[in-house]
Amino acid sequence: MSLRDNPCQRYHFVIDGSRWIVEAIFRLSLKDWFVATLIAPLLAMTHTKLLSRESIMTNLKEKIVFVTGASSGIGRSTAVQFAKLGAHILICARRDDKIQTLAKELGSSYGVKAHAFTLDVRNQKEVENCLSGLPDEWKCISVLVNNAGLSRGLDNLQDAKIEDWDEMIDTNVKGVLYITRAVLPGMIARNEGHVINIGSVAGHWTYPKGNVYAATKFAVNALSQGLKMDLLGTPIRVTSIDPGLVETEFSVVRFRGDSERAQKVYEGLSPLTPDDIAESIVWAATRPAHVNVNNIVLMTTDQSAPTMVHRKSS
Ligand SMILES: NC(=O)c1ccc[n+]([C@@H]2O[C@H](COP(=O)([O-])OP(=O)(O)OC[C@H]3O[C@@H](n4cnc5c(N)ncnc54)[C@H](OP(=O)(O)O)[C@@H]3O)[C@@H](O)[C@H]2O)c1
Repeated sequence: MSLRDNPCQRYHFVIDGSRWIVEAIFRLSLKDWFVATLIAPLLAMTHTKLLSRESIMTNLKEKIVFVTGASSGIGRSTAVQFAKLGAHILICARRDDKIQTLAKELGSSYGVKAHAFTLDVRNQKEVENCLSGLPDEWKCISVLVNNAGLSRGLDNLQDAKIEDWDEMIDTNVKGVLYITRAVLPGMIARNEGHVINIGSVAGHWTYPKGNVYAATKFAVNALSQGLKMDLLGTPIRVTSIDPGLVETEFSVVRFRGDSERAQKVYEGLSPLTPDDIAESIVWAATRPAHVNVNNIVLMTTDQSAPTMVHRKSS
């Protein structure tokens, strides 16, 4: 017969249990009572604080996220990942067909608003006009992802083409500056915002023939650090996301359409994917308002420095 079926046994069980609790209470010393009364409220307070921290993660639903260079690679994935959170997405690049198609996809797949416009970030006047001419509903940008960027050539500095240098410096450094300068005053006036720059591991370590590309990414690193200082006292956050090898159109662009050469960059290893980077961008943007993620450096496990990679032989 089980305890539940035997009322007599149940009675003894209850009496024994109560006696045990009463004895335990009386056995507690004065010191135990003191500790218990002091610790319990502290534990409760900490627990409540932790819970409230969790509940104040930055919510980007219906906020405007602006991603430059969203026609491919990391920028495209970033736009998609933010749309999945319910953010409204503003995108630009030079290839209009690609960003218009993406904007339609974001609207139909995630039910968010998406607005695409053609822009060459190297052109300061164009940047200023495009951003000041945005429809009013798109002006309050909460998150800016300065992603548009490229590499051109892989040459010793003494042999390199001057136009390659100009293109990299104009896009990766001046483009970031022009866009940030145009977006930041609105963020400051509204007391909210987050600037996320896409740097590179090449902004931490240079590599043979990577001279000017690395110099532009060292510059992005310096700009992110400097901007964080200039914005001290405001709630605006600044983050630099610095990836190693990511398989995108990056190498095809670097080698001016030579896809065979581009493919060799990723041969025998598992490169990062654009989604890997986009996820880290979204993670930084959704931390609670008091958390500024200054810098994330990501590499594939098969990479340890820009040119130090492990390739599996086939
Ligand atoms: N892939 C990597 O291994 C890697 C590693 C570290 C850092 N990064 C950085 O990640 C960022 C994104 O590159 P990705 O790998 O995603 O390469 P990607 O696939 O070639 O994408 C680059 C994006 O930048 C845009 N862009 C380039 N020049 C532009 C300009 N003048 N004006 C406007 N948009 C411009 C391109 O669009 P349009 O051509 O349509 O204009 C494209 O959407 C870059 O800043 C790059 O330096 C990449």
